[in-house]
Amino acid sequence: MGGGTAIRASAGSALIPKGEEVDPVRFIRFLAVVLILILIVAAGLFAIAWRGEIEPVAAVDPSSFNEDLVAQGAQLAAVGNCIACHTVPGQPAFAGGLAIPTPFGTIYSTNITPDPESGIGHWSEEAFQRAMREGVDRQGRYLYPAFPYDHFTLITDEDNRALYAFLMTREPVRSPPPQNDLPFPFNMRMILAGWNLLFLDKGPFQPDTAQSEEWNRGAYLAEGLGHCGACHTPRNRFGAVDSDRHFGGGEAEGWQAYAINATSPAPIPWDADSLAFYLRHGWHEWHGVSRGPMAEVTGNLGLLPDRDIAAIATYVASVMGEPDQTRRERAEQLKAEIFQGQTAVQAAPATDTQAGDAQHPGAAIYASACAGCHNGSKPLPFGGLRFSLSTAVNAPNPQNIVNVVLFGLPPSDGEASAVMPAFANVLDDHQMADLLAYMRERYSEAPAWEDVADLVARTRSGQYKVAVRPADGIERGPENVGASGGAEDAED
Ligand code: HEC
Ligand code: HEC
Ligand code: HEC
Repeated sequence: MGGGTAIRASAGSALIPKGEEVDPVRFIRFLAVVLILILIVAAGLFAIAWRGEIEPVAAVDPSSFNEDLVAQGAQLAAVGNCIACHTVPGQPAFAGGLAIPTPFGTIYSTNITPDPESGIGHWSEEAFQRAMREGVDRQGRYLYPAFPYDHFTLITDEDNRALYAFLMTREPVRSPPPQNDLPFPFNMRMILAGWNLLFLDKGPFQPDTAQSEEWNRGAYLAEGLGHCGACHTPRNRFGAVDSDRHFGGGEAEGWQAYAINATSPAPIPWDADSLAFYLRHGWHEWHGVSRGPMAEVTGNLGLLPDRDIAAIATYVASVMGEPDQTRRERAEQLKAEIFQGQTAVQAAPATDTQAGDAQHPGAAIYASACAGCHNGSKPLPFGGLRFSLSTAVNAPNPQNIVNVVLFGLPPSDGEASAVMPAFANVLDDHQMADLLAYMRERYSEAPAWEDVADLVARTRSGQYKVAVRPADGIERGPENVGASGGAEDAED
C-alpha cells in the first residue's frame, strides 16, 4: 500500500505500549489537543465555506486521449502507488473500497475507475486537477488526507493531465465504496478545511534555483508523486507530517520506515550511488533487501527511467548530507572487514562463536537458525546480509526485524528472489527475545531494545496488520502469515 497519513499513524499508535498511567503533563497536553481540535472545527465552519461543485461531464470517450499521454500516466500512477490504496486485493484494479485504518476511524478508498455512478466517470480534468492539488472532490467535499494530497499537491498540471488520461482509459467498474466509519467530529469533512489551513502547503512544486536540475527533478518526484515523506516523516497527532523532522523516520503498515536523513541508522551511510541501486533493484550489498511497504515502492519505481531514479537518489542523498567523521571511519572499517576479505571478528563466518556466547541464550538459536544463511558465504540478494551491516539490527525499534523473523520473506511469483523462511511457528516469544538481544549485542553498538517479547507477542497476535510482501512488492502477502502458534502471552 502506498503512503497515506492514516495508515502510518495507525500503525504508530499500535506500537505504543499500553497500560501507562495518566500523568498530569499528558492530561494537559490532551486538553490542548481538544482545544486545538475545537479551533480547527471553528476555523472549518467560519473561515472557509463549502467548496463549489464542478459540473459533471458526459461520459468521456477513452479514444480521445493520446496514447503517449496514457503511457506516461501509467508510469506516473505506478510511482504514486495509486493502485495499492485504490484496490482491494483480488478485486478489480482502481475500484476502491480498501479499508484504511486511522487513529480517528476507518476510511475507505474511493473508486477511481471511469464508472459514471460509483467512480469518476463524470469528472472533468479540472475536477481531477483540483482533487490532486487541493484534496477536494468533484462535488466540493473535502477529502481526508489518508489520500496523500498533501504530497500530490506538488504534481504539475501536465503530469496530472497524464494521470487523468490513464485513469479515464481504464475499465469502468461498478463498485460503490463502503461508508467511512468515523465518529463525530471526524465524520464532518468540514473540519478538513481547518486541517488544510494548518498543514496543507499548496503546490505546484517550486524549483529551488540554487540547486541543479537533477536535484529539483528528484525533489519533485520524492516529495510529490513518490510521497516518500508520507512514510518516512513522523506525524503529529493530527496525522500531518511533521516537517521539522523531515525524513526523520515514520511508520507504515506495521513496519518502521527508517530515518532517511542525517539520523539514518544504516551502519554504512547511504550515498547517491547506493540509493540509486537500491531504489532500482530493491536491494544493495551494504544494506540488504527492501521489505514490506518498501518492497512495493521499489517494485513500482522499476517503471521509472534510470535518470529519474538517479535524480531521486541525488535529492535524498543531499537531505541525508555528508556523514560525520566517526560514522565515516566506522563505515570504512566495516567495508574493509567485510568486502576486502580481511577476516576480522565481524567478518568471520558467523557460525563462529565468540567469548561469552556460551552464556547468551540467544547465541545457540542464532548459530543454528540464522548463521548458515547470514554468514556472508552467499552474495545478496539471494544470500542473507551480515548483520553488522543491517539497518534492522541497528534501528532504534526492533519492529522490522521482528516482522522479518516471524513472517520471513515470501518468494515472488515465477522469478528468483530473496527468500527467507518464517520462524513464527518455530520460535516462541521468549526465544525470539533472546535471539534478538544476542544479535543486538553482537552486531550493533546501540543500546539494548526493551520489551522485545511483548512486541513479538503483539506482532503475531494480528492486533495490527503487518503487510508481508514478496520481493517484487506487487502482490499482497497473506495477512500475518503464520501468526498462530505463538506463546501464551500472545493472548493477553
Ligand atoms: C495511501 C493511500 C492512497 C494513495 C497512495 C492514493 N490514494 Fe487516492 N485516495 C485515497 C483515499 C483513502 C481516498 C478517499 C478519501 C476520502 O474519502 O476523503 C482517495 C481519494 C482519491 C480521489 C477522489 C475520488 C473521489 O471519488 O472522491 C482521487 C481522484 C484519487 N484518490 C486519486 C489518486 C491517484 C491518481 C493516486 C496516485 C497518484 C492516488 N489516489 C493514490 C487513498 C490513496
Ligand atoms: C508506503 C510507505 C513508504 C514509502 C511511500 C516509501 N518508503 Fe522507504 N521504506 C519504507 C519502509 C517500511 C522501510 C523499511 C523497509 C525494510 O525494513 O526493509 C523503508 C526503507 C527505505 C530505505 C532503506 C533505509 C535503510 O537504512 O535500510 C530507503 C533508502 C528508503 N526507504 C527510501 C525511500 C524513498 C527515496 C522513497 C520515495 C521515493 C520511499 N522510501 C518511499 C516505507 C516507505
Ligand atoms: C534460508 C536462508 C535464511 C535463513 C535460515 C535466515 N535468513 Fe534472514 N534472510 C535471508 C535472505 C536471503 C535475506 C534477504 C537478504 C538480506 O537483506 O539479508 C534475509 C534477510 C534478513 C533480514 C533483513 C536484513 C536487513 O537488515 O536488510 C533480517 C533481519 C534477517 N534476515 C534475520 C534473520 C534471522 C534473525 C534469522 C534466524 C532466525 C534468519 N534471518 C534466517 C535468508 C535467510
